[in-house]
Amino acid sequence: MYLTREEEDMLHGKMGPAVQKSMEILVALGEIYNAERMIPVNSVHMPGSSVVVAGDAGTEFVEEMAGTNVTFKARTTLNPAAIDFERWKELRIPDEYAKRQKKLSLAYKSMGAILSHTCTPYLTGNLPRIGEHVSWGESSAICFVNSIQGARTNREGGPSALASAITGRTPLYGLHLDENRKPRLLVKVSARLSSITDYGALGYYAGRVCKGENPYLTGIPTDASIDQLKMLGAALASSGSVALYHAKDVTPEARWAEEVTAKEGPKQTVELGEAELKKAYEDLSKAQSDEIDVVCIGCPHNSIYEIRDVARNLKSRKVNTNVRLWICTSCSVKSESDRMGYTKVIEQAGGIFMCDTCPVLSPVKEIAKRDGLKTIGTNSAKLAHYAPGQCNLYPHYGMLEKCISATISGRWN
Ligand code: F3S
Repeated sequence: MYLTREEEDMLHGKMGPAVQKSMEILVALGEIYNAERMIPVNSVHMPGSSVVVAGDAGTEFVEEMAGTNVTFKARTTLNPAAIDFERWKELRIPDEYAKRQKKLSLAYKSMGAILSHTCTPYLTGNLPRIGEHVSWGESSAICFVNSIQGARTNREGGPSALASAITGRTPLYGLHLDENRKPRLLVKVSARLSSITDYGALGYYAGRVCKGENPYLTGIPTDASIDQLKMLGAALASSGSVALYHAKDVTPEARWAEEVTAKEGPKQTVELGEAELKKAYEDLSKAQSDEIDVVCIGCPHNSIYEIRDVARNLKSRKVNTNVRLWICTSCSVKSESDRMGYTKVIEQAGGIFMCDTCPVLSPVKEIAKRDGLKTIGTNSAKLAHYAPGQCNLYPHYGMLEKCISATISGRWN
């Protein structure tokens, strides 16, 4: 592939070993995908930020890079970690994870990463423009940045995102190119969508049909909120590895997507009505027992509005002593919640904030085994999808109001 003089210098080690290693990774990737050249990136979201995902080898690699004193060229935010840095003891996360996670996060910080530790970096300032080329990891964030912000990223893994942060480059292929941003499927939505769980169920059903291809959706309400669209994308990404969706009159590339669909014709047309939505709700609820051990709200990480809704639902109520209520969000959204008094309401009711982390990226599987936890209630299709495999918890899926009622009664009704 073509490299500029500066990129050649990077590859030949003139800018140090970390830059050289990073350029080798990116060139190898570019050659696999026939990229003709590199493109500059100034926004990276790092997927391998939890030691549960990075493992020992990934952590050592990041530390080795940091040990060369290299600094990131691109603005870089971090995905959730394995621990809440302030409350890991309270959450009874084993010490060993805390020790390893602190080392990993410090290594990223020393290279210039912002210790955001959230999967919703767009809510905390990593906000690329339409058409901007970026290198992002984390499936729900990738789907959001491509679809809602109209920026362009492939599905980056830990090493390639790190290499982009260090060099400020990514190979030009995949979703950076117009050709690969075209919709391939037409999804006609006639189901009435109101709660965020409807959007999650829709995404879950549609994702299984799309299987990684970009859909063009019609029938999405034009006043859909950012939280609803976030849930739609997270679910599409979980059940179908979808990295980009277009929605008529909603997403920034929708008009172009409509023209492409009209001109080239979709490979497949899918109708999605009330029956399909109902089926998705059923498929997402895999728990056999109505007894609830955990309720988790905040996958992807909660916005301040979602936390407000939790606080409103909980006011003057008490979490059942047999249930753990976990509220996942970033530290920056939590500090807004503190100011607004929502944190106090939630904590007085017995809820626990899980900042910087989430059940999938923390050692919840071990905690569930240790504490005999079996069922989880959630309003997140993504968490319901991953909970059995990643957390050993079997889900009930439903609206926030239903989740909070289960938190109080200890049963899913
Ligand atoms: Fe975020 Fe964890 Fe869910 S990374 S999208 S809260 S699985």
